[in-house]
Amino acid sequence: MIVAVDGTSASGKGTLAAKLAQHFNLEPLDTGLLYRAVALSMITAGDNLEDEEKAANHAASIDYKSMDSPRLRNSDIGVASSKIAAMKAVRLTLLDFQQNFAKNPPNGRSGTILDGRDIATVVCPEADSKIFVTANIEIRAKRRWKQLIQSDEPAIYARVLEDLRERDTRDSTRQNAPLRKDSDAITIDTSHLDAEQTFEMARKYIASRDLNRQRS
Ligand code: DC
Repeated sequence: MIVAVDGTSASGKGTLAAKLAQHFNLEPLDTGLLYRAVALSMITAGDNLEDEEKAANHAASIDYKSMDSPRLRNSDIGVASSKIAAMKAVRLTLLDFQQNFAKNPPNGRSGTILDGRDIATVVCPEADSKIFVTANIEIRAKRRWKQLIQSDEPAIYARVLEDLRERDTRDSTRQNAPLRKDSDAITIDTSHLDAEQTFEMARKYIASRDLNRQRS
């Protein structure tokens, strides 16, 4: 089984994907971390973030096994990764890895779940279940702001809101694999849902898709 979860920044898609992975015994991949890792690698090397050729080289050499650095979650890396994610060469380099991952769950797993922006539309158009997660931008900004404060990163709400607006625009208006809902996907608006309610909606949808798949 392949599950595709796409959506806007801070919509709750990462939390949802992690809960679904556990429930359905799926191997998870947070694809945003791949773009973040490329950004971090460029910043660490002191390279110009506008240099597409260099960015593609960094993408080709990131270590997929070391995606647990807390620095990857910082907001400056989020902003930088959104710029890098607009580059065609970077997307192509990361595409192979993501598609391979999706089709090859490790032993014992029932499938894979990938979350990002273009999973249903580009990476796994054949996914069995496709979920598009979003929420009102002010609610998303409040959630992100709270997370930053809790992790001791200094944050000003108005600035967080502005960053999200910029990222939404950049992610959804770029030429290469823009953020958009696939025509086969269901939308879950998490503005007024907690993590458990969101999970429950997605769980029911995936279970019904799986039942249909087994019948056909
Ligand atoms: O989900 P995130 O905030 O960790 O993602 C970081 C950036 O990577 C985000 O601005 C958009 C980009 N991204 C993308 O373009 N395609 C994906 N499949 C995942 C993330």
